[in-house]
Amino acid sequence: MSEELPAEHEERERPAPAASPPEKQQDAIEFIDVHKSFGRNHVLRGLNMSLPENQISMILGPSGTGKSVCIKHIVGLLYPDQGDVIVHGHSIPSLRDADLFELRKKFGVLFQDGALFGSMNLYDNVAFPLRQHTEKGEEEIAEIVNGRLKEVGLGQANEKMPNELSGGMRKRAGFARALVLEPDIVLFDEPDSGLDPVRTALLCELIKEIHAENGGCYVVITHDIMSARRVAEHISVLWKGKIVETGPAQDLFASENPFVRQFLSGESAGPLGME
Ligand SMILES: Nc1ncnc2c1ncn2[C@@H]1O[C@H](COP(=O)(O)OP(=O)(O)O)[C@@H](O)[C@H]1O
Ligand SMILES: [Mg+2]
Repeated sequence: MSEELPAEHEERERPAPAASPPEKQQDAIEFIDVHKSFGRNHVLRGLNMSLPENQISMILGPSGTGKSVCIKHIVGLLYPDQGDVIVHGHSIPSLRDADLFELRKKFGVLFQDGALFGSMNLYDNVAFPLRQHTEKGEEEIAEIVNGRLKEVGLGQANEKMPNELSGGMRKRAGFARALVLEPDIVLFDEPDSGLDPVRTALLCELIKEIHAENGGCYVVITHDIMSARRVAEHISVLWKGKIVETGPAQDLFASENPFVRQFLSGESAGPLGME
């Protein structure tokens, strides 16, 4: 029996290479039955969600549904009341502080406004994680920082202060900074918020390009369906602290689930109301 298995696998894998990846990689991030309340506000209600390695995943859901709370669980800024959050096989809530600090170097996080330090120019903002977390000399740092700034189209803006930049530029700068430590996981919390449709489209392109070049698990939180259509390879739809549906993007866009359909098509009729 066991000797026959490999041959059978080979037979099956050859005809349909495009339909699904031949081997399922371990998921980069897993939420296992996570509950989280703030006082009487039960935000995550038994969340089960897996985010695959090496893909751009999107977490979609109405505002106030717990998307940012999810990101904070991934980086260990919040702990679940119940359940577990696993990142590359490590249970985040059970890590000691020193190990969590180490693990955080794997993450690049892009918060809503780019979260730049207002008193530092763009160059120093992007250099900051390298100076903080590595022993690299200034020459090597300059090479990395200039390369990343160029990559996000800010090659000429080294000396600018954050308050001299447009919203879109601040986000791109935050993206450059999120990438300098060559993270395995990049988390974007609503990168499209406050951007006009054209700049949102450009940012989506940039995310795709940089992912194609660097790989890794990208997690993009958004409530913008157009962004999801543009970049998502994997989608999880979150509502009321639970997953409604999760899977490859094309499956979600073809979903029969009334909530998923309503949400992904932006229709007013359906289970999602103005509560
Ligand atoms: N640190 C906190 N303390 C208390 N309530 C919080 C905290 N963080 C989030 N919440 C609440 O959790 C809910 C989900 O928030 P959030 O994850 O920010 O939503 P979104 O899906 O829009 O990102 C909201 O009701 C919010 O008020
Ligand atoms: Mg949020």
